[in-house]
Amino acid sequence: MPADEASRDDAKRVIFFDTTLRDGEQSPRIHLNLREKVEIAHQLARLGVDVIEAGFPISSPGDLEGVQAVAREVEGPTIAALARANEKDIAVAWEGVRDATKPRIHTFIATSDIHMTHKLRMDRATVLAAATDAVRQACGLCPDVEFSCEDATRSDPAFVAEVIGSAIAQGAQTINIPDTVGYTMPTEFQRFLGDLYERCPSLEGVTLSVHCHNDLGLAVANSLAGIQVGARQVEVCVNGIGERAGNASLEEMAMILRTRAEDLGGLWSGIETTEITRASRMVSRLTGYDIQPNKAVVGRNAFAHEAGIHQHGMLANPLTYEIMDAQSVGLVQSELVLGKHSGRHALLQALVDMGYELDKAELNEVFTRFKALADRKGEISAMDLDALMGDEMRAVHENSLDLREIAFSGASGDEATARVVVQGADGAEHRGEGAGDGPVAALMGAIDAAVGSSGTLLEYAVSAVTAGPDALGEARVVCEINGRQFTGQGVSPDVLEASAIAYLRAVTASRNAADERMADSGV
Ligand code: KIV
Ligand code: ZN
Repeated sequence: MPADEASRDDAKRVIFFDTTLRDGEQSPRIHLNLREKVEIAHQLARLGVDVIEAGFPISSPGDLEGVQAVAREVEGPTIAALARANEKDIAVAWEGVRDATKPRIHTFIATSDIHMTHKLRMDRATVLAAATDAVRQACGLCPDVEFSCEDATRSDPAFVAEVIGSAIAQGAQTINIPDTVGYTMPTEFQRFLGDLYERCPSLEGVTLSVHCHNDLGLAVANSLAGIQVGARQVEVCVNGIGERAGNASLEEMAMILRTRAEDLGGLWSGIETTEITRASRMVSRLTGYDIQPNKAVVGRNAFAHEAGIHQHGMLANPLTYEIMDAQSVGLVQSELVLGKHSGRHALLQALVDMGYELDKAELNEVFTRFKALADRKGEISAMDLDALMGDEMRAVHENSLDLREIAFSGASGDEATARVVVQGADGAEHRGEGAGDGPVAALMGAIDAAVGSSGTLLEYAVSAVTAGPDALGEARVVCEINGRQFTGQGVSPDVLEASAIAYLRAVTASRNAADERMADSGV
């Protein structure tokens, strides 16, 4: 049961530091564009996270712009940017967050012998000096500074204590202890943290944070162990995404704190758990990372009771098999919000209620698509609208190639044949026909013939946005075009149409990338 709000003790509040947009975005093949980052950040704010780590600004100009956009547009949480412990990184991180109402610089350096020797090629004295200088510089720029010892759990605790003692003396208010390679175990981690408290008394005066990776499936267990011995910040990602096997999952930590509050000595968080499902789906859709069906809290089976004996128990009393209820995580299956007679005003109201902000031009664009969808599908649910909005964000508007017609003529033998009409950015229509050993291959051939592209399909996935036979389908492709990989996504009630849209977006992205390269080389 949730802790009684009136009896909540501030000293027991667990700060949620969300790093979906930084550690999560570092996962292979996740490339969020600026609008997608801002959209996720708005949802994280609705979810009630305390800190959003919006990126690692030195890593690319795009990352810096993403952090700046989040810092300028998203109100509520503290906005943090990551920086290695050097002058340039810290200066650029500050450029990223300086416009936020509550900015934070998060600087880090590795403290394990293996990292110092083989990665940094620095000895202990040099690492200590770099950490000290970095925190001093960051504190001179930003009122809120966090310092992390990368690979802390494989480091000599005496050295970690010395480094964090120095960071605290320079003004760091949060000290983060990462289990960077996901190696530690709960009781071992507790001993490690206890040891740090003993060796570094000034740690009592700042917020201790834990950042656990999931290589052995222990990220959440280790984070929980951390907050039970004094840590008051957990670093988490939606759906547990992140480097390699990921980070501690936000939704699992939040639901443990809510469900087991009484047994956790009053620890609590400010997470609005009813926003969890929407956050999870948004992150899954925009990153292209599916959620495993049996994933705790957000998997599609998490609240499904399949076996007859379980169903019988549930009917007699839900508590027989249910420790949390679907409403508490905001799971409202395909709730109907609009119909095909709904007008522009009703659509705008529904989108505003769902937390979207649109200008007039965007509303017009979405309304046209909504109408087309409602004519084909009839009832439009909140999840359909989320998919439509996500699709709008993914759309490549520059030089876009739009699908106008698609048709499949009779398959002969094992071969399928497709015809398409594609409209280019200049309004001209291009027709093409293609054949292949399946409808998707035929479609790609037809598009290539129409627009003169040549792509090889590397990955292809389709999924249903909602349940039921009239579900909206989402297609995702990864293609090699001119020696480089491009991704595309498309949403439509017809999965082949969604596939064609996805491929056209990948082709458009490849053309825009080629244009940018030519511009960069001054051609
Ligand atoms: O895993 C890690 O050590 C990190 C640090 C940069 C905090 O992500
Ligand atoms: Zn990490």
